[in-house]
Amino acid sequence: MTAASDLPQVLVIDDEMGPRESLRMLLKPNYQVYTADCVEAGIKLLKEKHPDAVITDIRMPGASGIDGLRRIREIDPHVAVIMLTGFGALETAQEALRLGANDYINKPFDAREMREVIGRNVERTRLHRTGVNAAEEIKELNNRLLKELAQKERLASLGQASAEFVHDLGNPLTIVWGYVQLLAKKLEESEKDNGAKSQNAKELQIIEQNVRLCRELLTMWQSYGSVEATPHKPISVSALVREVVKGVTAMAAQNGVELKSNLCDDACTLLGDSTQMTRAIQNVIINAVQAVSEKKGTVTVSCVRKDFYVDVRVEDTGYGIAPAQMAKIFDPYFTTKQGKSGTGLGLYITKKVVEDHNGSIKVDSTPQVGTTFTIRLPLLNN
Ligand SMILES: Nc1ncnc2c1ncn2[C@@H]1O[C@H](COP(=O)(O)OP(=O)(O)OP(=O)(O)O)[C@@H](O)[C@H]1O
Ligand SMILES: [Mg+2]
Repeated sequence: MTAASDLPQVLVIDDEMGPRESLRMLLKPNYQVYTADCVEAGIKLLKEKHPDAVITDIRMPGASGIDGLRRIREIDPHVAVIMLTGFGALETAQEALRLGANDYINKPFDAREMREVIGRNVERTRLHRTGVNAAEEIKELNNRLLKELAQKERLASLGQASAEFVHDLGNPLTIVWGYVQLLAKKLEESEKDNGAKSQNAKELQIIEQNVRLCRELLTMWQSYGSVEATPHKPISVSALVREVVKGVTAMAAQNGVELKSNLCDDACTLLGDSTQMTRAIQNVIINAVQAVSEKKGTVTVSCVRKDFYVDVRVEDTGYGIAPAQMAKIFDPYFTTKQGKSGTGLGLYITKKVVEDHNGSIKVDSTPQVGTTFTIRLPLLNN
């Protein structure tokens, strides 16, 4: 049974006990009913209870139902008001409707009709109230969006400055990289006969590795910087996934990894940036290949179209993700591949690109069993 507090609330105002009590009995199973024997008492209850509908008699001693209606409207412009009119008092009913009543019912009333009229009027009030709430939510959302926009503008100017910074940093870094390689070569030649690597060579290798990492980071930043600059064009997600899989095939084979794909025939078209989307999907597939390399496991890439979106799923039978790390994998620079290739920017970039395309990315993983990444992208209406 529904708790009394969950029931819609109806306020009945009628000076005559007969109709008042019969309405209470009629409505009690489905509504929380409040009754008042005059306008004054009704208004008090209206303020206290905020009912979803008010049923008021028109003809009452003292303040009439019409006076009552005026006062109700001053207090709550949206609550549904149903007027009870004497038989044949059509003119009064019309006047009430003009004054803002929502419905009327002739006395003596028919139980079924009464239930119907109340049902639809309660619904009307509720819809209206949700509408008012929605309007408030929209206003709140608007304010938040404005704030975000201001923040984005700040970030955009910062982004512009850092794009220039990244570009300028590239040149000296390329020079350092060149000299490090030159030195490494010289050292290698001078130590050719020694057999084992000298301490100097080892240290130089660390420098080299880290300069390489810096260059990779710069390349990533530069390509990521172009996300907003390139206008979105229609792209086929399934064609793009097919290309990425093709591109990764050699790498998978070298690592003894089985790479399977199951792509739908539909083009799965959306407006987007194909370079960025390629990179986003590539990151996830490469991660999967890396995760299964040791085990020589399997990576399955699928592309499944649903009505308005497409799911790109990358499933692997690799080492999985520890629960404690789950929350961090999308953070920039989070990596468990230290010393290897990892910069920890892969998934961060993927998530950003997917979200720029109004999509989402989800991950399910069981340590030692495998991981599934699902990228969901909304499609163009067609
Ligand atoms: N398929 C996967 N299986 C297991 N762990 C994964 C998988 N994909 C991502 N991870 C975990 O998430 C971390 C972050 O991934 P991300 O792609 O961002 O960086 P990375 O692969 O370490 O380095 P990068 O992609 O920058 O070369 C990884 O280091 C790894 O621990
Ligand atoms: Mg990665």
